[in-house]
Amino acid sequence: MRHLRRCVLAILLTGGFVGAQDQAARAPKKVDAAAMFAGPDKIDPAAAERGQKIFGPTCGFCHGADAAGKSAPDLIRSQLVLHDEGGSLIGPVIHNGRPDRGMPAFPSLTNEQIADIGAFLKLRKQATSNRFGYVIQGLLTGNAKAGESYFNGDGKCSTCHSPTGDLAGIANRFEPADLQRRFLSPGPSLMDMFMGKQSKPLPSPKVTVRWPSGETVSGTLVRADEFNIELKDSAGWHRSVSREGAQVQIDDPMSFHREQLAKYSDADMHNLLAYLETLK
Ligand code: HEC
Ligand code: HEC
Repeated sequence: MRHLRRCVLAILLTGGFVGAQDQAARAPKKVDAAAMFAGPDKIDPAAAERGQKIFGPTCGFCHGADAAGKSAPDLIRSQLVLHDEGGSLIGPVIHNGRPDRGMPAFPSLTNEQIADIGAFLKLRKQATSNRFGYVIQGLLTGNAKAGESYFNGDGKCSTCHSPTGDLAGIANRFEPADLQRRFLSPGPSLMDMFMGKQSKPLPSPKVTVRWPSGETVSGTLVRADEFNIELKDSAGWHRSVSREGAQVQIDDPMSFHREQLAKYSDADMHNLLAYLETLK
């Protein structure tokens, strides 16, 4: 099933329509990950690989080995790179440099080498902006077993979720790209909101305000600022109380997900996605 889905995605990505017969003939073949990853804008993976070998040691010091920027700008978001074709626009910058602005000249790089660098930069661009490409990369590199141990171990996911409870069959409910977005940042997608699709609201933070006298008020947090806490109590009443002299405790069920976002490594994300994809 997984295999078939990849195949379908590959067809989507290359933009070609393949007849049912053709599709059946293709199904048993090994999927060419590099070709899929290249997406609609064909990039020669071999050229990108050669380009990466030049870019890392020559340009990485300033632009970052992944081209995402360091002391020098991010080249993945560069308009110049976006519109470059085979080195047409980046070539002059690389050959002549912009010495007055800190970009040295590299006159000895050949046009072929520059075209290879261009292919690498475009591939990086797709890896970060093409959500299919990104997810497919994750699906292909993720290890479901490792994802499962992360889920039950370091990721602490099993303290709130269960693969046979709330997350049972989750891979049937969402496409891989959406599934990944959901565990990174739960809630409706921009597309859902745009389409006006109803989805269950995320749980709201709970708040408890405790005064030295022992009096407490608690409920669902509506608003908090430096001076006041606004909440809805269990009877449904809106109340606004002063924080002065009180102890305020806010428990936000979504805070885990927000904080976890900074903690995932790329491998954790890919492994988790591969694991969640097995929940069918
Ligand atoms: C010593 C640091 C340094 C090195 C090494 C370096 N660059 Fe740059 N590069 C810069 C800086 C700084 C800029 C921004 C210049 C400016 O503001 O116009 C830049 C700009 C660029 C731009 C233009 C981006 C745009 O959108 O205008 C390209 C393309 C580029 N570099 C490619 C490369 C490549 C390819 C290499 C390796 C062959 C490389 N750079 C090596 C510092 C460096
Ligand atoms: C402290 C509790 C907590 C922990 C720990 C936690 N989550 Fe969640 N998670 C939530 C809450 C609350 C929601 C939003 C309500 C819901 O959709 O169930 C949510 C939503 C989700 C959703 C979206 C479900 C849907 O139907 O849209 C996924 C997927 C998910 N979490 C995966 C994970 C993974 C993977 C981990 C481990 C890295 C994790 N969660 C850890 C509390 C937690």
